[in-house]
Amino acid sequence: MPLRIVVGLGWGDEGKGKVVDHLAPGSGAVARFSGGANAGHTVKTDGGSVVLHQVPSGMLRPGIAGFIGAGCVLDPVAMLAEMEALSDAGHAVRGRLRVSGSAHLVHPVYRLVEAEEELRRGSRAIGTTGRGIGPAYVRKFGRTGIRLEDAADRSALESMSDALLEEAAGMPGSGPDLANQAAEFVDAAFELSGLASDVGSAIRGMLADGVCVIAEGAQGTLLDPDHGTYPFVTSGSCTAASAFQSLGLGPGPALVTGVMKAYSTRVGAGPFPTELDDPTGGELRRKGREYGATTGRPRRCGWLDAVLMRYSVALNGCSEIALTLLDVLGGFPEIRVCTSYEGLPGGRPVFGRGLSACRPVYETLPGFPEDISGERSWDALPPPARRYVEFVERFCGAPVRLVSTGPHRDDVIRRDV
Ligand code: IMP
Repeated sequence: MPLRIVVGLGWGDEGKGKVVDHLAPGSGAVARFSGGANAGHTVKTDGGSVVLHQVPSGMLRPGIAGFIGAGCVLDPVAMLAEMEALSDAGHAVRGRLRVSGSAHLVHPVYRLVEAEEELRRGSRAIGTTGRGIGPAYVRKFGRTGIRLEDAADRSALESMSDALLEEAAGMPGSGPDLANQAAEFVDAAFELSGLASDVGSAIRGMLADGVCVIAEGAQGTLLDPDHGTYPFVTSGSCTAASAFQSLGLGPGPALVTGVMKAYSTRVGAGPFPTELDDPTGGELRRKGREYGATTGRPRRCGWLDAVLMRYSVALNGCSEIALTLLDVLGGFPEIRVCTSYEGLPGGRPVFGRGLSACRPVYETLPGFPEDISGERSWDALPPPARRYVEFVERFCGAPVRLVSTGPHRDDVIRRDV
């Protein structure tokens, strides 16, 4: 199938970047369809680790075209810096990357607005990445945003930027520094407007020619504003269905790869039924190097919540699962998986505000003492590791066709199931 959608099934940080990078050879393009500089996709190549925030992950493979869809919000200054850093590391993307002219831009004033909102929320703060993502989507849907195509007219762009600076006058953090950031924003946005293009038509053309395109999601299903743990969510849609909308495609056949971590993590606030605030949680964090790729914040860790994962698999219509970080579970004497909840109003799982009332009920599976990091053969996995994978696929309702066993791009087991 020419279109493959790679989507996160949890609260982000499932390892989508690595999975996309692994799958990219053999496809013609990788198209990012959600989020912006809040994302951090880490890929470990032979030349070292690369963290991508806005550039599609598959572009680390030479010759692969990149697209950024209309549903993304772009920080132009950070984007140019990322492109330059990639170029210095031998991964030039200019000339291969096209951005939808309809994608909205993140102005520096948005970060100030967001910081003020978070302060006002006090103990109910979302714990955002601080990248101005929420205000960018608020402006988009309030029909007052700045789109990449607007940036081609420099003087109109300057007027829009000046109007935002005026709005911000008197806010904490406004002043000469903000004015300098706004000037940088104008320069960068104007330069990036040269990449504006009709992404939908280009991708439709490739698919019609039978060229494979990978649609790369950001964040994860449980952070989706419609279907996630609202209000502790991000502001852009991040489910597989939103790939069509963002990239300008009609709903059509696609292979949907849901990326699931072998345990659970979350950054920022919000309900997390299986969170472990104990040495086991600390051990998962240490072994999984669970610190935010964008903000450096320690991630909250816990056992796999298979109830939520089954929900995400169904919601995204997953054809298959890519199970990541299985190696991190090596050495735990037993592995627990949440397979139901108790204490639910009406006894039915609720995925919004009601989730905080859920108490997880676990099944316990045998652990495996072996270090399986870097293992690339299914048959060489210890039987309890294989049993865990089979348990997950049976419970969640989709085959696990990829198992990631380490940070390197090729530390992957492919299964023909
Ligand atoms: P925002 O997207 O910066 O508005 O943050 C909203 C929520 O989504 C916060 O809990 C963030 O920590 C979380 N979030 C946003 N992007 C990511 C990501 O790429 N990985 C994990 N969490 C994220």
